[in-house]
Amino acid sequence: MNILVTGGAGYIGSHTVRLLEKTGGKVVVYDNLVTGHKEAIKNSLFVEGDIFDSEKLTDTLKRFDISSVVHFAAYSLVGVSMVNPREYYHNNVVGTLNLLDVMLANGVNKLVFSSTAAVYGEPETSLITEEIAKNPTNVYGRTKLIMENVMADYSRTYGLNYIALRYFNACGADVAGDIGEDHQPETHLIPLVLKACLGKTDKLKIFGEDYPTTDGTCVRDYIHVNDLGQAHVLALKALYNGHGSAVYNLGNGNGFTVKEVIEAAEAVTGLTVPKEIAPRRAGDPAILVAGSQKIRQELGWQPEYTDINKIIETAWHWHQQNPDGFAG
Ligand code: UFG
Repeated sequence: MNILVTGGAGYIGSHTVRLLEKTGGKVVVYDNLVTGHKEAIKNSLFVEGDIFDSEKLTDTLKRFDISSVVHFAAYSLVGVSMVNPREYYHNNVVGTLNLLDVMLANGVNKLVFSSTAAVYGEPETSLITEEIAKNPTNVYGRTKLIMENVMADYSRTYGLNYIALRYFNACGADVAGDIGEDHQPETHLIPLVLKACLGKTDKLKIFGEDYPTTDGTCVRDYIHVNDLGQAHVLALKALYNGHGSAVYNLGNGNGFTVKEVIEAAEAVTGLTVPKEIAPRRAGDPAILVAGSQKIRQELGWQPEYTDINKIIETAWHWHQQNPDGFAG
């Protein structure tokens, strides 16, 4: 297994790379370092490159005799996608189309693709299974849904074999404490809560207290980044074993409100989170909770971290050790 991991220097990418390395396959990270961190790559081969650079991509596939791709390289912020849609369509759609062209031209047809719970939009059922209607409420979700549809067509016509994983809310960090979540700027709830505890940011803004949920704040399904990473390992192995193209949800199946996450963080850290209520953020659905039975049954995936306090503990460990992220 010679695997190219685009975006492998990013948060989910770098955790997955570490797990892929343990399988004994050769891992080549391909990242333009716009949002990724070179320091997050410890053992793998690294190529600094962009998914728009067909020549460098082609050269990398050939040079390392790559037979599969795990594609993380994308923009992934719901809020930003609403104010800068062009950047999102360009990078996530045009960039991925280019990657697919290069892969197919070089006979590489196995792909694990980062998709998202944002493809569902405002679901009518409380537990989201893969087949329910997809009506994204934000541009980010639309870019990923477009690519899922493209991949389904390429699978039928060009023999692409892909597994798309629809992530719910990735969080936590490897227990080793040397890699973790470091976005610039940070917009995700758990790192912001922990940074607020450390006095590294202003007060946490709770975006909306008038959602139709138990305490009025949004409900999300928080999944540990290593559990996400492990699903990529299983998906890749399945593709090498002849598994056909498929789409799976990846979440814990448990929802927590923003206020519950804050309470859990206060319990873990023993500190009080400075906070205030703010207006809703554009594009945020009220409730997103995964039904992940399909990947459990078909690929044997089993999350190790099911307790929100345990997940936050791993993130807290990273933030305490690295209060200024990789730059520190
Ligand atoms: N939130 C706040 N204050 C903040 C930041 C977030 O109240 O300062 C709230 C958001 O409004 C939302 C929840 O916390 O209700 C989680 O927000 P995040 O920004 O951490 O995550 P999102 O749910 O917006 O998005 C994440 C990923 C997406 C993915 C989605 C799937 O960033 O890529 O999970 O559920 F699509």
